[in-house]
Amino acid sequence: MRIALIGAMGQLGGDLLPRLQAAGHDVRSLGHADIEITNAENSAAVLEPLQPDLVINTAAYNLVDKAEDEPDAAMAVNGLGPQLLARLAEKHGWRLMHISTDYVFGDVTRPTPTPFVESDLAIPSGRYGLSKLTGEKFVQANCSRHFVVRTCGLYGIAALRGAGKGNFVETMLRLGRDRKQLRVVNDQLCTPTSTADLADSLVKLITTDAFGLYHATNSGSMTWCEFAREIFRLAKLDVEVIPITTAEFGSNAKRPNYSVLDCSKIESVIGRKLPDWRDALARYLVSRQSVGT
Ligand SMILES: NC(=O)c1ccc[n+]([C@@H]2O[C@H](COP(=O)([O-])OP(=O)(O)OC[C@H]3O[C@@H](n4cnc5c(N)ncnc54)[C@H](OP(=O)(O)O)[C@@H]3O)[C@@H](O)[C@H]2O)c1
Repeated sequence: MRIALIGAMGQLGGDLLPRLQAAGHDVRSLGHADIEITNAENSAAVLEPLQPDLVINTAAYNLVDKAEDEPDAAMAVNGLGPQLLARLAEKHGWRLMHISTDYVFGDVTRPTPTPFVESDLAIPSGRYGLSKLTGEKFVQANCSRHFVVRTCGLYGIAALRGAGKGNFVETMLRLGRDRKQLRVVNDQLCTPTSTADLADSLVKLITTDAFGLYHATNSGSMTWCEFAREIFRLAKLDVEVIPITTAEFGSNAKRPNYSVLDCSKIESVIGRKLPDWRDALARYLVSRQSVGT
């Protein structure tokens, strides 16, 4: 397949590129310097000469807290950009894969919540989530052959080369080298996910015609506090992790208290379960050694 990969310098793009190439696809890798997805003329000028079979959009405005102060910037990249790409894809008969987020879901009030399925009503609590939900809807409404894939808390080795906003694992490792104690939020349940594992699943999904909305994360769930403890245990760093509430942490954006995603739909299409989060984290910590940390 001829594939245009947008966001190629990002965490997910960085893990998708070699896997797509290894699967035999002819990939044109597009970083931000190559394409501006908020600009219709530019996107058309870059993509039309390529005439790809599939466009994969991993580009996003990912600054969750900053989006509260600059919602228009978030909406331009996460909402309007995907709309432009979807219209272009439909016009030319290209397939479009677009990546979204668990933050399309807001707080859960049920005492024993169960993982969200794709048909659950999404009501985001922050501007980032709203912009991403808008992008999903634009893609669904404008491109008939789409894959929209929601994921959560991505970490990939491209962050070591300065991609995007970095990731939680790298932040913990950096802080953990200097401090003996860290306070980490313990009342948000979700499933941080390795971009390597997500990329493996997406490479399988694009070989199907099973278009639609998907949830794709590593298996299991944890709080950020539990995740931090596992990072330090595996990295053999002696850091005491003190559980705190979201209110005590006091971030600008409201994040969901529960955003675990049920991934059985994608798992039935690609024929396998996504790996457990502990296993994914352990492999990430090994793989990051090879990029000279
Ligand atoms: N990171 C997470 O924790 C997380 C969680 C859930 C879902 N997601 C979703 O997963 C996808 C991949 O995330 P990621 O962590 O791989 O992102 P990332 O590392 O931040 O990479 C995104 C890439 O998109 C580029 N980009 C930003 N704005 C652009 C624009 N207007 N036009 C063209 N390119 C642009 C960025 O380039 P510059 O940096 O040069 O601007 C960056 O290289 C995104 O859709 C994101 O919303 C991420």
